[in-house]
Amino acid sequence: MKKDFIAVADYSPEALQGLLDLAITLKKEHAQGGNQPVLKGKVLAMIFQKPSLRTRVSFDMAMRHLGGDALYLSPAEIGLGQRESIADVARVLAGYVEGIMARVFEHQHVLELAQWASVPVINGLSDYNHPCQAMADALTIVEAFGSMKGLNVTFIGDGNNVAVSLMHVCAKLGANFTLASPDGYDLNPQAVKLAQSFAAKSGSTIRLLRDPHEAVKNAEVIYTDTWTSMGQEAETKKREAVFPPYQVNAQLVSEASPEAIVLHCLPAHRGHEITDEVADGPHSRLFPQAHNRMHAQKAILVHLMA
Ligand code: CP
Ligand code: NVA
Repeated sequence: MKKDFIAVADYSPEALQGLLDLAITLKKEHAQGGNQPVLKGKVLAMIFQKPSLRTRVSFDMAMRHLGGDALYLSPAEIGLGQRESIADVARVLAGYVEGIMARVFEHQHVLELAQWASVPVINGLSDYNHPCQAMADALTIVEAFGSMKGLNVTFIGDGNNVAVSLMHVCAKLGANFTLASPDGYDLNPQAVKLAQSFAAKSGSTIRLLRDPHEAVKNAEVIYTDTWTSMGQEAETKKREAVFPPYQVNAQLVSEASPEAIVLHCLPAHRGHEITDEVADGPHSRLFPQAHNRMHAQKAILVHLMA
């Protein structure tokens, strides 16, 4: 049966660990100039309904490193679900390419693509989650601390798509996850329920708080993301009034573990959710984290398409 990568939640802890191990091996091979063309002759179609820098370029480069190729399909180009039904797009594309990556507004749309495409489908971000980001995040955390097990990972800000996937990867791999969000910007309750069931198995905890200061105490990882995600632009002003107490600044970082690393999926809105001082400071791992998108996704591509 063909495999997809739609959510971290769909994978067992062992499978996730396997992907991370493979990412580390592929990253090492790449650094030594020894990329193996295991996807030679294979093509990934990349459907984008929203803008992207990291997802677009890291998938494209990942396919090139693996001996394959990638096709960029812009929001204007295929009109997913508008010019043509998702089911038809999926079935047509599956006759041309060996894999599909899609960045969509509604999570249901990537599920529908996966249901109709006979080739693997990868979720490159939806309004619900961002699983490829979470794999790069986990890789960055493992590189810093050796393992996720028992670490305290704190997300400060909006309980958004990035927070959902981070929470799930933490719960699966045994890291304690804490969110500090303003009232009204909580995580999807079903995603929290799922996380609690994963955490019960891995022996980790899930905490949902309001106070960012309490949330960062003893944190080894501090994570933040934009206050306004793509598709929520109409709420920008309202959100800018609510979120300032959730800024990741030098004061907040000083209240965490002295070894704490700071992560952000990027793009960053400097002076809003994160200050320049933190983004460019000694705790920041923002750029290695962005680069790890490519390495983590190479493992996902090999797992699905080789
Ligand atoms: N982090 C991330 O997904 O970045 P892009 O939106 O640039 O792809
Ligand atoms: N939460 C952000 C992530 C961007 C990579 C968004 O959905 O816009």
